[in-house]
Amino acid sequence: MERIVDGQELTEDSFEKSIRPISINEYIGQSEVKENIEVYIKAALMREEPLDHVLLYGPPGLGKTTLAHIIANEMGSNIKVVSGPAIEKTGDLAAVLSSLEPGDVLFIDEIHRIPRFIEETLYSAMEDFTLTIVVGTDSSSRNIKIDLPPFTLVGATTRTGDLTSPLRDRFGIIAKLNYYTEDELKAIIERTSRVLDCPIDPEAAIELARRSRGTPRIANRLFKRVRDYALVKGDGIITKEIADMALNKLKVDALGLDETDYNLLKAIIEKFNGGPVGIEAIASSIGEEQTTIEDVYEPYLLQNGFLKRTSRGRIVTEKAYEHLKIPYQGKLGE
Ligand SMILES: Nc1ncnc2c1ncn2[C@@H]1O[C@H](COP(=O)(O)OP(=O)(O)OP(=O)(O)O)[C@@H](O)[C@H]1O
Ligand SMILES: [Mg+2]
Repeated sequence: MERIVDGQELTEDSFEKSIRPISINEYIGQSEVKENIEVYIKAALMREEPLDHVLLYGPPGLGKTTLAHIIANEMGSNIKVVSGPAIEKTGDLAAVLSSLEPGDVLFIDEIHRIPRFIEETLYSAMEDFTLTIVVGTDSSSRNIKIDLPPFTLVGATTRTGDLTSPLRDRFGIIAKLNYYTEDELKAIIERTSRVLDCPIDPEAAIELARRSRGTPRIANRLFKRVRDYALVKGDGIITKEIADMALNKLKVDALGLDETDYNLLKAIIEKFNGGPVGIEAIASSIGEEQTTIEDVYEPYLLQNGFLKRTSRGRIVTEKAYEHLKIPYQGKLGE
């Protein structure tokens, strides 16, 4: 089942495009990243050169794709979008690269999923704007070098650890996106409210922000659901009361935890006495893939101190026990 508090893109998020900020001024939060990128963009424009290659990384739904489009827009460039998993053969990448026009932004989403053997083609393209392709068969093969127009590669990844260092090193600008603060999320929600022309009370906006797990995508998704409640149960305005009612129906608690989080924490508490327990054991006990737990379930719980990672495995923290209203006995050796 799809989780409403999942940072990853769901089918229901197709409305995102319509509420995506277009210019850097509309992009809320991430002030450090924004300031840096603004300077680099200005300098590149003054030099009349393309921007250095940019790597954006951070958890799903924090605005990597949005920022990639903003960069192209601010540079006055066209953007070509491809996804790492769609590049299966060297030829796929060569086709994309050779279609670029001078100054274009090439956005490669999920860049960590480009197969390693194709990465090398990317190196020379990034470094000196050449495309090296091999023609002929094994015995009589030779390399042909094709000049590419200068372009900017913007890569996005949720897992920078999966990127090889030669690839990472070829990015001039590396920007890490962080979870948003409540105030920033409130501002994002209020912006969405203006764009969708659906009023929201400030207290309701704070309540949504608080339950959005630091993630704009979740904030917008919650907004959309709560808006429906406001329309049907109220007079179209999202009040605190409407927001609370809708969020409780959606089973998203005051800190943004949902049933999946509860199940995970409770499994560790009930089956492993709160840990420490290895990720493999957790995975098999709740019938989930290890990587799903690591990439999707855990980050928010770790980030917010409900779960702790130790050399001996995961431990449920006192904060989590309190939140779940389960008596905490304390842990030996802590
Ligand atoms: N800084 C921001 N200000 C306002 N809205 C934002 C911001 N960042 C993200 N959003 C909103 O959140 C939505 C999700 O952002 P986006 O698609 O860029 O995330 P992502 O990091 O690319 O996610 P994924 O890792 O799944 O590709 C966007 O549609 C946009 O409306
Ligand atoms: Mg994206």
